[in-house]
Amino acid sequence: MMRRSIVKGVGAYLPEKVLTNDDLSQLVETSDEWIKQRTGIERRHIAADGELTCDLSAKAALAAMDNAGVTADDIDLVILATTTPDNTFPATAARVQAKLGVSKGPAFDVQAVCSGFIFALTQADNMIRLGQAKRALVIGAEIYSRILDWQDRSTCVLFGDGAGAIVLEAAEGEGSNTDRGVLATSLGTDGRCYDHLYVDGGVASTQTAGVVKMAGKEVFRQAVSRMCESVEQVLADCDLSKEDLNWLIPHQANIRIINKVGDKLGLDGSKVIVTVQDHANTSAATIPLALTHGVKKGLFKPGDVIALTAMGGGFTWGAALLRW
Ligand code: ACO
Repeated sequence: MMRRSIVKGVGAYLPEKVLTNDDLSQLVETSDEWIKQRTGIERRHIAADGELTCDLSAKAALAAMDNAGVTADDIDLVILATTTPDNTFPATAARVQAKLGVSKGPAFDVQAVCSGFIFALTQADNMIRLGQAKRALVIGAEIYSRILDWQDRSTCVLFGDGAGAIVLEAAEGEGSNTDRGVLATSLGTDGRCYDHLYVDGGVASTQTAGVVKMAGKEVFRQAVSRMCESVEQVLADCDLSKEDLNWLIPHQANIRIINKVGDKLGLDGSKVIVTVQDHANTSAATIPLALTHGVKKGLFKPGDVIALTAMGGGFTWGAALLRW
């Protein structure tokens, strides 16, 4: 027997305010046509004044707890993946824990930018398998609208605000690749690429939050190769092949990256979850947002093999393989 973590519930939250491509073309020299053709993005959501990452997180987490049929008393671990915390410290996860009324176990943030949710999921899965937690909330939440240069058309059209969450629960498996739950995870970082995608501010450097700076073409190139390699790695770790994959949930940054990753893995487009058109790149939140979309649409059948994968600033990357 082997302890596994299974996805018990999913939830999402997008702020009320919607900013369309046409709205953006009033702010910078761009067009709906350019943004749609180069990125697939049609709209993004923007947090209201005074709305914080903890608020988005708590709303997504409550939806996931409701979907899982659990209460705050059942949760004993909260991990929040975010690049846009409410404060430099404490961890925004601590505030989320208090807002939800969770009182058991640790709550902490994970910072791996767009790969953050995969890093947080890996951490939660490891803690559950070690017996350090029974039921974890794993959240990805971001307010990128506050770290964008709204005069820079090369970045401001790409991002949005939002949150997604899952409840991950301990279950007994046989230890084989037919078990339900998280079968394998794989993470990587190449710090030499730090300057390809970064925010030009920070506590130790400028004492400001800064804004996103990006070498778009290099990010694009590495995103495709790193996400494919990560998925191939978790499949190999489970003695499974690309043919065994039923669904791919890639980080939602750009439809062209998503399509290339799907093609390279030999997956039919109908098996690749795409939500980037509705919320743009919400960094650590895109994977739980897309997972929630798939669950709400009733796409996943018991036994389906689902690969989650992301790549982001650092560079960081990773994948998780789940059996539904
Ligand atoms: N509207 C109109 N024109 C624009 C815009 C815009 N919003 N932004 C750039 N352009 C112009 C450029 O100035 C350039 O003009 P020029 O030819 O006169 O110099 C032209 O469009 C082409 O620009 P490119 O940078 O060559 O366009 P490209 O096809 O590479 O697309 C993009 C740019 C969309 C940023 C692409 O490189 C990309 O998606 N990269 C990945 C970046 C990404 O997804 N980052 C998210 C974070 S990382 C992650 O999540 C994986």
